[in-house]
Amino acid sequence: MGDILDVIKSRKSIRRYKPDPVPDELIDKILEAARWAATGENYQPWRFIVIRDPETKNKIGDLARLGSGSRMTTWYCLGEMQERFTKIEDPVKRDEVLRFMYSGEVSEFAKQAPLVIAVIGTLMEGSVDVPYDLSATAENILLEAHSLGLGACWVHGPVASTRDAKKFKNILNIPTGMGEYKVIAYIAIGWPKEDRKHPRPKLPLEDLVYWEEFGRKERPKYE
Ligand SMILES: Cc1cc2nc3c(=O)[nH]c(=O)nc-3n(C[C@H](O)[C@H](O)[C@H](O)COP(=O)(O)O)c2cc1C
Repeated sequence: MGDILDVIKSRKSIRRYKPDPVPDELIDKILEAARWAATGENYQPWRFIVIRDPETKNKIGDLARLGSGSRMTTWYCLGEMQERFTKIEDPVKRDEVLRFMYSGEVSEFAKQAPLVIAVIGTLMEGSVDVPYDLSATAENILLEAHSLGLGACWVHGPVASTRDAKKFKNILNIPTGMGEYKVIAYIAIGWPKEDRKHPRPKLPLEDLVYWEEFGRKERPKYE
């Protein structure tokens, strides 16, 4: 069996896409990968809404822009966002980046993605694992898209608040009743238009792993 570590390690979130469509056979592969994710009690609560209609993608992009814009404007007003971007020394460039963030444009990219997949889960049969199951299937989508040469990004922004989640459900005609469906994210997918040379920095294993008990950093010899 092949080692998929290279696929995992070379995946990056891609937010800019060429306009070329994603062929149906690749969409089917991505959905097939999603279907095989691990799931508590084999419950398989996931449902996927595959969206290619430009009007629907525009509505999703607008919702994401408004949601991110209002959150980030608050961070901007509190000065938190400026702190985060102090590394950009050129003041003009920094202002541009800040405006891109607090305007919410940073989250608008569903509009450009040829393919958007909404990841939702049924809550009606009562598994407590639904959010975890949906995260597992979303990761499979990201990895399969990447292994096919596509770029993808998990976008939680427009469903981060219950109000936005309801608007998102309305756009897609998902029943909005309490306890009916959970929406965790949409995933934007397309042929990458950006070539991000550097991955986002990842914490080294030494900072993440303990051996045998919490806090123990040295690996004991084990026969
Ligand atoms: C739960 C979750 C929520 C995310 N939400 C967003 C989002 O709303 N907007 C966005 O642009 N990226 C979003 N991302 C992508 C992350 O920003 C990205 O994975 C992270 O910065 C690490 O970068 P990488 O994926 O290139 O390694 C999300 C990722 C996860 C796993």
